Amino acid sequence: MDKIIISGGKPLCGEVIISGAKNAALPILTATLLSSEPQYLKRVPNVVDLFTLKKLLRTMGAEITDQNDLCAISVKQITSCEAQYEWVKTMRATVLVLGPLLARCGEAHVSLPGGCAIGVRPVNLHLSALSQMGAEILVEHGMIHAKVKKLKGCAIHFETSTVTGTENIMMAATLADGTTTLTNSAMEPEIIDLACFLNGCGAKITGAGTETIVIEGVSRLTGSSYSIMPDRIETGTLMAAAAITGGDLNLRDCVPDHLASVTRLFKKMGIKIISGKSSLRVQRPKASLMRAADFITAPYPGFPTDMQAQMMALLSVSDGVSKITEAVFESRFAHAAELRRMGAKIYLEGSHAIVEGVQKLSGAQVMASDLRASSSLILAGLSAEGETEISRVYHLDRGYERIEEKLSKVGADIKRVHG
Ligand code: EPZ
Repeated sequence: MDKIIISGGKPLCGEVIISGAKNAALPILTATLLSSEPQYLKRVPNVVDLFTLKKLLRTMGAEITDQNDLCAISVKQITSCEAQYEWVKTMRATVLVLGPLLARCGEAHVSLPGGCAIGVRPVNLHLSALSQMGAEILVEHGMIHAKVKKLKGCAIHFETSTVTGTENIMMAATLADGTTTLTNSAMEPEIIDLACFLNGCGAKITGAGTETIVIEGVSRLTGSSYSIMPDRIETGTLMAAAAITGGDLNLRDCVPDHLASVTRLFKKMGIKIISGKSSLRVQRPKASLMRAADFITAPYPGFPTDMQAQMMALLSVSDGVSKITEAVFESRFAHAAELRRMGAKIYLEGSHAIVEGVQKLSGAQVMASDLRASSSLILAGLSAEGETEISRVYHLDRGYERIEEKLSKVGADIKRVHG
């Protein structure tokens, strides 16, 4: 298994171009199941989760070719409606094929996603919404068996804001009979991106990005060309890299508005942020201390849970005591134990983490537990004294495109060792 070795203490300076968003590309790729016409997608990130999903879609009859930055997908006919456990155990987002399969061919057999390092991750809200739309759903032997003659539009209220739940039902409703109204919908930018893609294929979706989304069912969807939105979590992670190393990074081709809650927190910590139209410049003179700050994770536009681990690393070397509250997932603090190995002072109590800033972290051998935890350890290694060796970086490769190359181009002493 690959490892990443970092020799810390070097300020990062220069420019990084942000890749397409993993969490927008995943639902948009599953949405290609809804049309028999060719789709042309740009900025699909080269990360493992997307490689996995393309392989799965090919088993369902999709023809997919990647040339440079263009991904061409054509699903003339769906030849299989199955996504077995082997797919779902490596990537929970496989559940996003459920809505499109039911809408396009009235049948789906998808392995029930298990939990993961950050929580139980149920899909009850997905299933109850699909059954409200008329699907017959049977869950047995770890498989979701769903079938329907034709999905029916209806009013659906999500008790909890769910990103992939909103996405699954929005996709299912595009070809349903009649109109579907979703209330308490998730408002993440990735949902707007999916709605823009679907409307480009002839869907009739309004309200994406607000709590109420209305989808008027249509008879078919056409092909289209679309460019995936930039990855706001990669952007936030690189913002943290500039801050934790006392550097000066200009992040290009991003959407500053998507990072409003992160930028607000950085400014409270005394980090300088200059927002351009499609760029964010982050500066923190090495001599200046970052101030401690408290935050609570929340659905968008609140502070993103996918930035919580990265912020814990940053606050570990800030001046003072910070309180982190993880209010979205029930066990998303696995990175704390590894940061402690590097000298961080972190005390966990239920959904709270108290971080007492220290002068310096020290390099150590640490282990990644999940995607965002691995980026948190990279940040800590970039700032620590000495060498840090991070194992199980397959977690990192699921969601970050060549991040060690991007970091070394702006001054990091970082390399990947193939194990
Ligand atoms: C999406 O996961 C993202 N993944 C996650 O990013 C992200 O952390 C999460 O949204 C929250 O922003 C993708 O988009 C592929 P949820 P998702 O459904 O949709 C509960 C990353 O690092 N819930 O919004 O699975 C759930 O337990 C990943 O890129 C139910 O109870 O998250 C959680 O507490 C990690 N029943 C809360 O809702 C359901 O049926 C939010 O989960 C569904 C969710």
